[in-house]
Amino acid sequence: MKIDKNVENDGVIFMSIKGEDKGDGGAPAKEPAGGSDCSGSGGDVTILAIESSCDETAAAVVRNGREVLSNIISSQIALHTVYGGVVPEIASRKHVEKINGCIRAALSEAGVTLEDIDVVAVTYGPGLVGALLVGVSAAKAISFAQNKPLIGVHHIEGHISANFIENKDLEPPFVCLVVSGGHSHLVVVKDYGEYEIIGQTRDDAAGEAFDKVARAIGLGYPGGPKIDAAAKEGNPDAFTFPQAKISDAEYDFSFSGLKSAVLNIINQAKMQGEELNQADVAASFQKAVVEVLVGHAIKACKEYGYDKLAIAGGVASNTALRTLMEKECTANGIKFFRPSPVLCTDNAAMIGAAAYYEYKKGVRFDLDMNAVPNLPLGDRERRFHAGKA
Ligand code: KG4
Ligand code: ZN
Repeated sequence: MKIDKNVENDGVIFMSIKGEDKGDGGAPAKEPAGGSDCSGSGGDVTILAIESSCDETAAAVVRNGREVLSNIISSQIALHTVYGGVVPEIASRKHVEKINGCIRAALSEAGVTLEDIDVVAVTYGPGLVGALLVGVSAAKAISFAQNKPLIGVHHIEGHISANFIENKDLEPPFVCLVVSGGHSHLVVVKDYGEYEIIGQTRDDAAGEAFDKVARAIGLGYPGGPKIDAAAKEGNPDAFTFPQAKISDAEYDFSFSGLKSAVLNIINQAKMQGEELNQADVAASFQKAVVEVLVGHAIKACKEYGYDKLAIAGGVASNTALRTLMEKECTANGIKFFRPSPVLCTDNAAMIGAAAYYEYKKGVRFDLDMNAVPNLPLGDRERRFHAGKA
């Protein structure tokens, strides 16, 4: 996979992602099994997908759910770094400035025009409301002006669907560990668009824990990639951090105790005038998080009887998580699927992949679609509130 990067005058990084890694499948895009064809023409379905739920403005053109014709990401991360986290007002304003350019670039790189697009898809939740509204407004405007069907996509369902892009043979049912900045969910993907949540976090999301611990040990924002890099130089056994087990919900996660344990070590060292080895703390913290995530996911596969496991979300790009998950899957006879790192973090290609299966199910949204900042995962009822199903 090739990433063309260009830093713009305002510090925003414009990226064009080209080509697809082999992944675990590698076969050419084919019409996946299941779902009746309601594309009218009975042929290819070309989707323009838009994502703006946090600090990435993204647009992509995706054919038949798995073939990415273009994938444009405009990342504001550098702008938010000085504040130590995403500033919602700045994010919304940048989305407004960047969205048309991203859409134009996505169409041009795919070699298509708006007339060639069959469906307009957009993330409508969860996320920052002001940020979501920019993508939702753009998608509604294009849908109205071009008279094309509109589909709202759940951001996390998008993350899960990123697995379909490089793994052409992956089909439900499978278990998916979704770990992002706002979510830590263990789900059974029963069918396209059908999810059963079997575990979730009781407090912080995994990515949130990475971000908070990174800030505490002085690595700054964005925490995940910085801890990932620092941990490579550290000793994962330097500290033993707690791994929470929740007795009445064995697949749930809790990361706040782990975060407090790291803070305690930092305070203790300060009081004793000792200098902590940043890399050792990063590596030991990362090990504690990764062992819990992998342990829960493997246990779920075995107990629920699934032999396919996928990972999704920003934290799924973590090197230690990918390595340990791969090792444990191999040891337990489970087939492991993971998107390339650039498809784990926010992008619009994953939204196009998820939208395709919604489209095949006949889901259509009206122009009164709104951004829903706290949209729940897996609740198909929400579609009746947001539009016709
Ligand atoms: O999925 P994502 O891009 O946005 C959300 O939907 O939240 O995930 C962002 C989160 C952040 O918390 C970030 O620190 C974390 O994913 N992250 C990582 C890595 N890359 C991003 N966490 C651990 N290791 C990484 N390499
Ligand atoms: Zn995300």
